[in-house]
Amino acid sequence: MLDIAVIRAETPGCAEVVHFNNAGAALPPRPVLDTVRGHLDAEALTGGYEAADAAMDRLAGCYGSLARLVGADPGEIAITENATRAWDMAFYGIGFRAGDRVLTSASEYGSNAIAFLHAARDRGIKVEVLPDDEHGQVSLDALEAALDDDVRLVAVNHVPTHDGLVNPVAEIGRLARAAGALYLVDACQSVGQLAVDVDEICCDLLSATGRKFLRGPRGIGFLYVRRTALELIAPTFLDDRSAEWTGPESYELRDDARRFESYERSPALQLGLGAAAEYAMAIGLDAIERRVTELAGTLRAALAEVPGVTVRDRGARRSGIVTFTRQDHASADIVEALAHQKINVRVSEQTYRYDEGASPAPRVRASVHYYNTEEEISQLIRAL
Ligand SMILES: Cc1ncc(COP(=O)(O)O)c(C=O)c1O
Repeated sequence: MLDIAVIRAETPGCAEVVHFNNAGAALPPRPVLDTVRGHLDAEALTGGYEAADAAMDRLAGCYGSLARLVGADPGEIAITENATRAWDMAFYGIGFRAGDRVLTSASEYGSNAIAFLHAARDRGIKVEVLPDDEHGQVSLDALEAALDDDVRLVAVNHVPTHDGLVNPVAEIGRLARAAGALYLVDACQSVGQLAVDVDEICCDLLSATGRKFLRGPRGIGFLYVRRTALELIAPTFLDDRSAEWTGPESYELRDDARRFESYERSPALQLGLGAAAEYAMAIGLDAIERRVTELAGTLRAALAEVPGVTVRDRGARRSGIVTFTRQDHASADIVEALAHQKINVRVSEQTYRYDEGASPAPRVRASVHYYNTEEEISQLIRAL
């Protein structure tokens, strides 16, 4: 059982707003805030490099925290500026040859889709969008039929940005591995709300962010690279963090996932990310997943009772992301009206989507977290 009163008391934002924009950026808990502010203060008072020296062990410890969070080894974690850059370092690091096939999901994130198009133009890869099954998730039958020797990569999201579905990433991983394809999972929206284990998922590469369900700071993310995949992909950029300059004609790459990092970063954000991972694990990812799933179910059921509202989520299994539209009301107007009552929701806007084509109808996205309450859900429904 989670002690929601204690958790809310540790979350200063809970006293200020009803926050249903956790898929955008969740409210950080006090230990994350204190960690980030504490390090910024130390930088201001003692100097940036000196503060980092003093925090050296804690900075190193962040890799261990993130590794435990996803069931990895600390040497398999790279800390990056955001989830997009983590995903990019994995994707662009694959030495594609013309004709290589890449399989992806219909609910894929826009930035990933643009990178696919870029690589199709630049390197001649062939991108194939797997159809959804009858529930709206990646079709495993279609994946099995599409997997062949020429599939270099399977790249899917765990939880999409604009829909409440959860993709069957473990089943996809088993099929991809059996076929000898690399497997990259965009776990940006799942880490922090679902229990994520890289061995269970069978992925080679996994990207995530700090600010969403993990409740960490903005401007930081991480990449998991399985040891066996380290030699199969190469960093697109090198600097004197990812490699060591050893002579006039030589350098040596780091032997762990930090070869995908760059030198300059914010130690305050890194420490905040580590604190967020520790906080989530102390609460328990299984308990978090249960509560988020339950609250999202309650919200969907309540929304379905509101005249004119249509819940848009698909998926046999669903996440904490709840999307809906309302007849005769533009989604942007709903967001604005709710904001006047200090209720945060968001419009999930895209210019194009594989699954809906051009100008998909904007949906309201109300994403719950474990610190939300049934009373807050009632408040949202009354306001609607
Ligand atoms: C599914 C998914 N992937 C990737 C991203 C990008 O994450 P970041 O903004 O940390 O780069 C997002 C952000 O909304 C997302 O929802």
